[in-house]
Amino acid sequence: MAIKIKDDIYWVGVIDWEIRKFHGNEYSTHRGSTYNSYLIKGDKNVVIDTVWTPFAKEFVKNLSKEIDLDKIDYVIANHAEVDHSGALPELMRHIPDTPIYCTKNGLKSFKGHFHEDWNFQTIKTGDKLNIGQRDLIFVEAPMLHWPDSMMCYLTQDNILFSNDAFGQHYASQYLFNDLVNQTELYTECLKYYANILTPFSKLVDKKIKEVLSFNLPVDYICTSHGVIWRDKPTQIVEKYLEWAENYSEDQVTIIYDTMWDGTRTMAENIAKGISEVNKKVNIKLFNTASTDKNDIIAEIFKSKAILVGSPTINKGILTSIAAILEEIKGLGFQNKKAAAFGCYGWSGESVKIISEILNGAGFEVIDDGLKTFWNPDEESINQCIEYGKNFAEKL
Ligand code: FEO
Repeated sequence: MAIKIKDDIYWVGVIDWEIRKFHGNEYSTHRGSTYNSYLIKGDKNVVIDTVWTPFAKEFVKNLSKEIDLDKIDYVIANHAEVDHSGALPELMRHIPDTPIYCTKNGLKSFKGHFHEDWNFQTIKTGDKLNIGQRDLIFVEAPMLHWPDSMMCYLTQDNILFSNDAFGQHYASQYLFNDLVNQTELYTECLKYYANILTPFSKLVDKKIKEVLSFNLPVDYICTSHGVIWRDKPTQIVEKYLEWAENYSEDQVTIIYDTMWDGTRTMAENIAKGISEVNKKVNIKLFNTASTDKNDIIAEIFKSKAILVGSPTINKGILTSIAAILEEIKGLGFQNKKAAAFGCYGWSGESVKIISEILNGAGFEVIDDGLKTFWNPDEESINQCIEYGKNFAEKL
């Protein structure tokens, strides 16, 4: 069902209430998601983005109730990832000659995905497409989220169609940002930024400043996932600028995995030591084997320091810690302190392995970490508390 945004401008996307894993199994979507597509009616009729492949038929059927498909003059394809382009083959089956506007990189990506010679028209930043009384102005946005990504801006109505940027995986019947639960919205925005956009923070900062330099009024930001920002729409732009600037809060996150509770005992007593020195800092503990990894990444994003613990197994580390470290490495966090800990029975390599990975991932590893022998006894527990105190002093 279409939802009116303004006169002649409609949301024609899909709400995916069921999805719990996105990007294959890489990203948890506890609150579902939406694939936002937009229809602009007027002298020229324009469709901006489509939806994910499984919803292609439903999308085109619903779209055809809003407009005779033959009357669509232009398709704008801001991004080739299939959560936005997946319904293009179904749509283009009905309107095979309609021009599709995309970036040069988009052309490569669309051909890579669909192997079709549709009527592609490539654009670059600043190009305008006149649609009657109004123009669409294009802005390339490489790596927000893929090399092909772009945004477009509708004059007179002052709408920025930002695609992935400023989105969140959040299914809601209330399409607009002022109508939804603000805590849920903020949580999903931050998780989305932390897990998807952190590696591109420098580009985020640069792109936002470039768009702001155009001095275009923005009344709405229509993203491709989640809510439409209509109430103080630039609030999310300001948040992005903050998050892109090596963001952290007064938080220490301790992540660990444990076999017989030795490393868990260490984690809890290190936390105790930290809080004895610093009562204010928000210390959070997560067992990586039983906690959603994307939620942990959001917590790490908010942290000024992290501690990572694993016992030694087979001269290595437990697999849930290895997995999250791989994720952390790829995200390229900046300006965060870190250290490792873990118990061991004989060979005891885990702390060194974790420290090296953290160092390679760009963390400031502040010491050699802490190893305890077998299950921590009273002396080892006191060592953990002392270690926590020292760690807190170095923050
Ligand atoms: Fe929502 Fe990069 O796709």
